[in-house]
Amino acid sequence: MTVPLIDPFARTIDYLRVSVTDRCDFRCTYCMSEHMTFLPKKELLTLEELERLCTTFVRLGVKKLRITGGEPLVRRNILSFFEGMSQHLGNGLDELTLTTNGSQLDRFAAPLAAAGVRRINVSLDTLDADKFKAITRWGSLDKVKRGIAAAQEAGMRVKINAVALKGFNDVELFDLVGWAKAEDMDLTFIEVMPMGDMGDGTDGTLRLDQYWPLKNLRAQLATRYTLTELDHRTGGPARYVRLEETGQQIGFITPLTHNFCESCNRVRLTCTGQLYMCLGQEDMADLRAPLRASEADVPLEDAIRAAIARKPKGHDFDYSRQKVAGQVSRHMSHTGG
Ligand code: GTP
Ligand code: 5AD
Ligand code: SF4
Repeated sequence: MTVPLIDPFARTIDYLRVSVTDRCDFRCTYCMSEHMTFLPKKELLTLEELERLCTTFVRLGVKKLRITGGEPLVRRNILSFFEGMSQHLGNGLDELTLTTNGSQLDRFAAPLAAAGVRRINVSLDTLDADKFKAITRWGSLDKVKRGIAAAQEAGMRVKINAVALKGFNDVELFDLVGWAKAEDMDLTFIEVMPMGDMGDGTDGTLRLDQYWPLKNLRAQLATRYTLTELDHRTGGPARYVRLEETGQQIGFITPLTHNFCESCNRVRLTCTGQLYMCLGQEDMADLRAPLRASEADVPLEDAIRAAIARKPKGHDFDYSRQKVAGQVSRHMSHTGG
């Protein structure tokens, strides 16, 4: 029997998020600058190496694998990776899923479903095509909507992730909720986190005054709906309410106003083989060296266990006193959200 991965705070680590590329076909203003320097391709792990790493994690007790990016579906041959990982489903792995911007979903939905993906998270912050173009700089709302429809046709459950931004999508709160209901999708709001170069706002990047605390969003929801707190968990940081009038479920991910770190069950692997033990901290462990040094899995397993033994208690994001504290220098696309 393999001993499961347990961190210093007695949390079992059974959720691995893997960023398979730092590239993206969008440039969301809160996530990237317009002129990003991406990693040289030769720095990336091959898909075979990523498979070997993920397989090792599954052997060590990881039950949930979420593929992220950048945009995971822009990585060449990514389907072969999904097909490879799907072999573990029901065989240690309970869930294989992804977080995507939806731009490529119309092509990929059917093969992803065939590889055992049952549920996907799609990032979408606005239902206004012009605003969508503005926030993603490069994206087409129509194309994403077609992708979502393809995913649903392929039998996948869709969850929409919307980053809550004051002065941007606050006016669309009820539209987003109504749309999610009409399309039978789950909807989760996320507080914007200080990641990467936030800029001073002059070039359209995130400004501190865009931070829209979810307790305010919730209060606005409560003016129209009766909210019932739910115990339901999906293994992620979201906490859910039910809107009694419609029966739908709305999730809140509140890294700034509420700390969910005590039940953290996940670590993050980047496309270069760095393991980040927390999204909001700088510490990481290089797994590429032990991966490449030996065909044997023991050195790699030892490196993973040593990293888990350093997992910090939580992140320190804080916007109090009009200052950003706990900011993390790397972009979200590096660690994969
Ligand atoms: P499910 O619960 O399986 O739907 O997934 P999830 O909520 O874990 O995954 P998803 O990719 O939808 O996560 C949404 C966003 O929540 C991420 O992109 C991050 O912005 C944020 N998030 C997820 N995990 C963490 C975490 O450990 N710490 C912080 N600060 N934010 C997180
Ligand atoms: N704060 C909060 N969420 C972010 N995302 C990207 N950057 C940030 C940020 N700074 C979200 C995207 C997507 C997920 C991968 O991460 O909108 O839903
Ligand atoms: Fe791409 Fe997602 Fe970042 Fe937008 S938030 S630029 S879609 S990785």
